[in-house]
Amino acid sequence: MKAFVLTVGVFFSVALYANPSIKPQEQAVASAHPAATQAGIDVLNQGGNAFDAAVAVSAALAVVEPFGSGIGGGGFWLLHRESDGFQVMVDGREVAPLKADRDMYLDKQGEPIKNASVNGALAAGIPGLPAALDHLAKKYGKLPLSDSLKPAIELAEKGFLVNEHYRRLAKFRQIALASNPSAEAIFLSKGQVPDLGAVIQQEDLAETLKQLSKQGFDGFYAGEVADKLVQGVQQAGGIWTKEDLKKYRVKERSPVVIDYKDMKVVSAALPSSGGLVLSIALNILEQYDLESLDEATRIHVVVEAMRRAYRDRALYMGDSDFVSVPTARLTHKSYAHTISKNLSLDTATSSQDISGLKDIEGNNTTHFSVMDKAGNRVAATLSINYPFGSGFVPAGTGVLLNDEMDDFSIKPGTPNVYGLVGGQANAIEAGKRMLSSMSPTFIETKEYIGVLGTPGGSRIISMVLLGILDAEQGHTPESWVNLPRYHHQYLPDVIQHEPGTFKDGMRVKLKEKGHQLKSVGRQYGNMHAILWDKKSNTLMAASDRRGSGLAIVETVGINE
Ligand code: DON
Repeated sequence: MKAFVLTVGVFFSVALYANPSIKPQEQAVASAHPAATQAGIDVLNQGGNAFDAAVAVSAALAVVEPFGSGIGGGGFWLLHRESDGFQVMVDGREVAPLKADRDMYLDKQGEPIKNASVNGALAAGIPGLPAALDHLAKKYGKLPLSDSLKPAIELAEKGFLVNEHYRRLAKFRQIALASNPSAEAIFLSKGQVPDLGAVIQQEDLAETLKQLSKQGFDGFYAGEVADKLVQGVQQAGGIWTKEDLKKYRVKERSPVVIDYKDMKVVSAALPSSGGLVLSIALNILEQYDLESLDEATRIHVVVEAMRRAYRDRALYMGDSDFVSVPTARLTHKSYAHTISKNLSLDTATSSQDISGLKDIEGNNTTHFSVMDKAGNRVAATLSINYPFGSGFVPAGTGVLLNDEMDDFSIKPGTPNVYGLVGGQANAIEAGKRMLSSMSPTFIETKEYIGVLGTPGGSRIISMVLLGILDAEQGHTPESWVNLPRYHHQYLPDVIQHEPGTFKDGMRVKLKEKGHQLKSVGRQYGNMHAILWDKKSNTLMAASDRRGSGLAIVETVGINE
C-alpha cells in the first residue's frame, strides 16, 4: 500500500483518564440524520469498531445531507483508541489547488469579486474526505473500506426523502444549483426546489463511491473519477489539475489538549482554529469562579472570553504547515492572564480597543459522535462549507464540490460568509489548508467522558464552549445540545444570540454593561453528543432538537 499519510507533530496525546479495564456494555451513535446513525450502528453490529462506524456515518451523511458535507468536501475526525489511550486528529481538510494564488478572488482594483469564492468550480478546494475514509478504514478500522461504505452506496442508489430542511437550504442555493446542469439534475426538479417527500437518487455518486470502495485512494484521486473531476472543473473555469488530486494527503495532527478545572478538553488542532480558540477562552474563564457570579455577569465574562479568543483567531491563525502560529504562547495560562487584565466585570470591552465580521444561517456542515463497546470514540465534523457547497457537480461524478476556499482570508480584513476576518496567516497559497472553526471535541474527567461537536460556521467554537461549561455544571448531553445559544466573535462587536436566549431583564443588564445584542433571527447549530458515565458504566447520547438527527444507545451485553 502506498503511504498516503503524512504524520505531523511528534507527540501524540494519550488520554489521561483512559482505563482499558472498564468498557461500556453499550455502543452509541449520534448524528444529524437517522439513516446515517443507523449505518453506524449496523457497521458496529457487523463487528466494526468506532472507526469503521465513523467511515459508515461519514459516507452516509455525504449521501443524505448533500447540503452539509460530502466526498467533494473535507473534515476532521478526532479519534480515541481505548486500548492504549492513543488520540489523534485525522485532518482531511481541503487544500487550495496548486494553481491558486493569494489574489485569485480579487478584481483588477483589488476588490473581492462577488461570490467568486462561494459559487462554482473556482470556489472548490481539493477534497479530503475520500482520502480520510480510506485512511480511517486502513489504519484504524477492523473492516474493509468496502464493508463500511456499503450503507452509503445503498442509500445513494435507493434515494432519500426530501425534508423541510433540504427544501430550505436548496431554496437558499437555488441559483447556484440551477446554473450547473449536473447539480440541477440531481438536487432540483426542473430548476425548482423538489417537493416534500420527493426522492433524491444519486446513481453517479453511488458509482463513484463504488470506485472508492474497490480501489481506496486511487478510486477517487486517480483514474476515471479523477479525470472526470478535473475535466468538469476546468471546463467550468476552475483551476484543478490531476496533479492536485494525486498529491492530496491526509495529515495526522496531535489534538489540542486543555486543562480546565477538573477536566481535560481534547479538541481540534490547526488548520482548525477550534482547539486554540477554546483553549484561550477556557484559560480566561478558569480565572473566575463562574458559579459565584450573577447570571448576567457570568454571560458577560463568557462573552468577553469569546471576544478575545476570536480576536486571536483573526490575528494569528492559519495552516501551521505554511505559517508560524504562536501556539505555545496562545495556549499558555499566563497569556490568558495578560489578555484578560482589562476585562471588567461591569463593562463590555470594545473590540476596537483590543486591536485585531455578515450573518448566515443553516445547518450546512455536520457533526457526529460515536462510542463503541470497547470505549473507542470518534468526534467528527465534516463540511462542504456553504449549503450545497459550491453548487457545482463535475459531469458524471455525482460529486458536489465544496466552496471551502471562502474559509481563506480572501483579502485582509474582508469578512467571509460567516463574517470572519483574517490576515496574512490565513491568506491563500497553493497547497495550503484554509483555517476552519470545526471543533470535534472530547471532555475527559475521572467520572465521565464526553464526545461532542456541531456545525455552525464561526459559531461552532462558541457552541462547543457553552457545551463544555454546561458539562462542568454536571449536566447531561441532552442539556449540552439543547442549550439556548449566544456568541461573540470579536468582530462584529455584538453578542449574537438565538431568539429567546435572553429574557428582557437579562437584555437590559447586558446592555447596561455596554454590550450590543443581535438576535440572529433563528436557531443555529446541530449538536450531537455522547456521554460515558464511568461510575454507572452507562452511555447517554443526544441529538440537537433543532435538527432532525437521531441518537441511539444500544446495549451489546457482556464484552468479549
Ligand atoms: O470549516 C469551517 O469552519 C466552515 N467551513 C464550517 C461551515 C459550517 O459549519 C456551516 N454551518 N452552518
